[in-house]
Amino acid sequence: MAETYDDLIAAPAWRDDLRALNQCLIDSLTAEGEAPQIAGSPFYRHMQHTSILDSKFTTRNEAKRRRLFDIARTGRRLFEIGVNGGHGILLQKYANPGLSCTGLDLCQTAGQGNPRADIYCPAAMGWLSSRFPGDMLFLIGDSGTVLPAHVRANPGLGIDILRIDGARSNYYSDFITMRPLLHQESIVVFDDPHWPTARACIERAMAGGLLVPDRRFSPPGDLFAQDAVMRLP
Ligand SMILES: C[S@@+](CC[C@H](N)C(=O)[O-])C[C@H]1O[C@@H](n2cnc3c(N)ncnc32)[C@H](O)[C@@H]1O
Repeated sequence: MAETYDDLIAAPAWRDDLRALNQCLIDSLTAEGEAPQIAGSPFYRHMQHTSILDSKFTTRNEAKRRRLFDIARTGRRLFEIGVNGGHGILLQKYANPGLSCTGLDLCQTAGQGNPRADIYCPAAMGWLSSRFPGDMLFLIGDSGTVLPAHVRANPGLGIDILRIDGARSNYYSDFITMRPLLHQESIVVFDDPHWPTARACIERAMAGGLLVPDRRFSPPGDLFAQDAVMRLP
């Protein structure tokens, strides 16, 4: 297991797996005659034109990647809303090989000019499931409908890390729906809170006394500078 984020990024096994995942995403798209472009991830820009196989990781998301690495090591059960190309899950699984991961994604495209998540997201889910047998569970659909059913079917499932990175307008309802599966030590990570819709959801949860910043990761005075890391009060 890599001890630090820098160790991980330099590790040949990590590089090989990242490359294999990226090749899988590219193959899934080109097989359908689509450009090999994906939505934004902790590693790559949204719909970037340079190949994800060879390009450098985004500088802008360096802090996000480092924090995901640290957060992944705080628990054993991860639930990620918004899987996209699977890069966040791969990073967290490498940071903590004992992690059991559940991911949910809509797996849809908004049409012409938008990412073909309907093609590459299921491919990412398939690749991760084969690479880490028994440690991955994937759900497909809208978080507004899939999550309530999942919570009802899994009462008492203790989620240690909930990463909310799907539709920003759903952040609050996603959290409220998943709340019964959280426990006192759980961490809730809201992605990209510089977006006003995302920030409003976090502020609403704080105003309602439902969440407080996790001071290990998110200083209260600087909560929205990076992904907001929260916990139950
Ligand atoms: C920014 S990407 C997630 C990036 C990913 N977490 C990572 O680390 O690479 C957002 C994802 O949320 C998904 N999504 C958008 N709306 C959704 C919804 N209502 N329910 C479930 N997933 C949704 C999109 O399909 C997209 O793949």
